[in-house]
Amino acid sequence: MGRERGGRFRAHALRAMLDGGAGRGHIGHMSLPPGFLDELRSRLSLAQVVGRKVVWDARKSNQARGDMWAPCPFHQEKTASFHVDDQKGYYYCFGCHAKGDAISFVRETENVSFLEAVEILAREVGMAMPAPDPAAREKADRRGQLVEVMEQAVRFYRLQLKTGAGVAARDYLAGRGLGAEALERWEIGFAPEGWQGLWEHLRGRGVPEELILAAGLARESRKGGKPYDTFRGRIMFPIRDGRGRAIAFGGRAMDPGESAKYLNSPETLLFDKGRVLFNLASARAAAGKGAPLVVAEGYMDVIALSEAGFEAAVAPLGTAVTEAQLRLLWRIAAEPVVALDGDAAGLRAAYRLIDLALPLLEAGRSLRFALMPAGLDPDDLLRQQGRGAMQAMIAGALPMVELLWRRESEGKSFDTPERRAALDRDLRNIINKIADPSIRSHYAQALKEKRWELFRSAPGRAGRFANTAPRASRKNAPAPVLPETRASLLAAGPEAVPEVLREAVILATLITHPALIEAHLARLERLEMSTPDHRAMLAVLLAGEFASPEAARAAITAEIGPDPLEKLFALNHVRIAPPLARPEDGEAAGQCLTEELAKLEAERGARRETEEASADLPEASDEGLTWRLAQAAAARERARRGLGEDRTAFEVADSGALVDRSERERLERLLNEIEYAKSGKKGRKRP
Ligand code: UTP
Ligand code: MN
Repeated sequence: MGRERGGRFRAHALRAMLDGGAGRGHIGHMSLPPGFLDELRSRLSLAQVVGRKVVWDARKSNQARGDMWAPCPFHQEKTASFHVDDQKGYYYCFGCHAKGDAISFVRETENVSFLEAVEILAREVGMAMPAPDPAAREKADRRGQLVEVMEQAVRFYRLQLKTGAGVAARDYLAGRGLGAEALERWEIGFAPEGWQGLWEHLRGRGVPEELILAAGLARESRKGGKPYDTFRGRIMFPIRDGRGRAIAFGGRAMDPGESAKYLNSPETLLFDKGRVLFNLASARAAAGKGAPLVVAEGYMDVIALSEAGFEAAVAPLGTAVTEAQLRLLWRIAAEPVVALDGDAAGLRAAYRLIDLALPLLEAGRSLRFALMPAGLDPDDLLRQQGRGAMQAMIAGALPMVELLWRRESEGKSFDTPERRAALDRDLRNIINKIADPSIRSHYAQALKEKRWELFRSAPGRAGRFANTAPRASRKNAPAPVLPETRASLLAAGPEAVPEVLREAVILATLITHPALIEAHLARLERLEMSTPDHRAMLAVLLAGEFASPEAARAAITAEIGPDPLEKLFALNHVRIAPPLARPEDGEAAGQCLTEELAKLEAERGARRETEEASADLPEASDEGLTWRLAQAAAARERARRGLGEDRTAFEVADSGALVDRSERERLERLLNEIEYAKSGKKGRKRP
């Protein structure tokens, strides 16, 4: 880093935004000398690296300035919201928020590790990868030695499977449908009975005792005897890391009486259970060619899936999926399909995974769940019902939100206000776990709809509350929005229209009075903008230091081009706002800003309350709801009248319909008066 202009403390908003995936503090750096990455970045042209994967938008891009735009390679889109700043060496997508530098771009698009990406790029610009420092070299050497021992063990076990000792194991595997080819492909072996089979073999070939122990292949005897083999009487599955190196084994007991059906290698310098996945390397390659990434529970599931043609299959190694594994999965596919046993344990595993995933969700990143028929795992399903059945399971995999809803609602009764309140509380807690604001609001919306369906259409469940009167929220649904208006508002819901305009006024005020930014920094940093342009403008404003409105405009134009600014200042609502009508009046501008911020915050809070509460309207006799509606309406009213006036007691007549009606009228008024879309179009045509 250290290349952005005016690196003042205020720049941290933009820096945090850009830094995200850029790989600072990455473990991989440790073996790179200081300055190596900076040198690499300075020799690279990000536009060139990215240019191989995208088609630039010639109209929007400015090649001379290194200001490049293209449809985003990380999500489906027709417009060009993916921005490359070739000078700074960063990209950012205003649609899906993908961001980073050349290294992260190669990592994401080529599905490689950090160091591999560095290697690829270094080769391109003719930089030699540095020789590792002595400590790193030693560690690498040690790893290399351990891997070599592991490879010898793989060979030993495979050989054993072919000998007389392996007869029963061969029969067992054949009975499970694994032919000679599959055994080869998966390098399946057999650890014979007896205490020192592998030990003696390796010792006989001169492998030091200490290395065999460090590889986790044998254990120290507690009785002072010779160390003994970790795996005995087991079918052996080699586990390889993302680069194909043997790092561990999974061993399945032949003896059904054995207490541990599966035994995995202990953690070693090579094997960090929570950070690898069985079959990772092959799955990554297959997923790269378009196969759906399937996450199963066991070795045999992965093997069966892969043999049946679902080659992008992986499994954790005898533990629940960890955060590191989840990130690994998301680097391979945006929506891995989790295939779980269709039993209580499988569901529990799914729920655990959901809790792990919620805080990590990002736009376009999620999970799907394929719950097998009761009592079957993917291996069983494939054998009993064939690959068509599995294909159907994958195609019909449930989105995460469905399963989440199932957990919260299934088998429960919501026949009392208390129980329904408890459901609301639980749903809110879940939604609050989601860190990404846009995903959070989509989850809130989806869960609200499900909740509404449940309470409306399940008389058995909520019979006493299923009101026959039309829902207030239906009756007062906002008037249809004109198509061009909707398009211009970029998918923001109709209720967000006035908010978009408030945002516009706030932005225009900050641009014309940049000195105000500093004073309202904390609040501005919390401010959520509802369109990509607004988000981008705010980010630029928060990142810089601007002596004049012209400087602020220039910075924004440099970042996202002139269109958004033109559009912004063409809005009637913006033109008549005090900071623009009377630009010399700094005090009025400050007041306007504080007021608009307060109104926006209050409106958003009130809208959230109203939305939640209006879903409850049939039970509006419930005092809590009435109170919440009254509070929401009062807050909004306060904000509308200006700050600090709280004299009028506010009342909700009945069930809050009043709130809804005024909302709707206000929306229509705004749409008619301001014609956001039209002025936007005009703005673009003006010279
Ligand atoms: P399962 O018990 O579901 O076995 O364990 P499976 O994969 O269906 O195996 P088969 O079909 O009976 O051969 C799923 C995974 O949990 C881990 C292993 O990784 C296994 O693949 N496991 C299971 C253990 O680590 N230890 C055990 O004792 C059992
Ligand atoms: Mn099984």
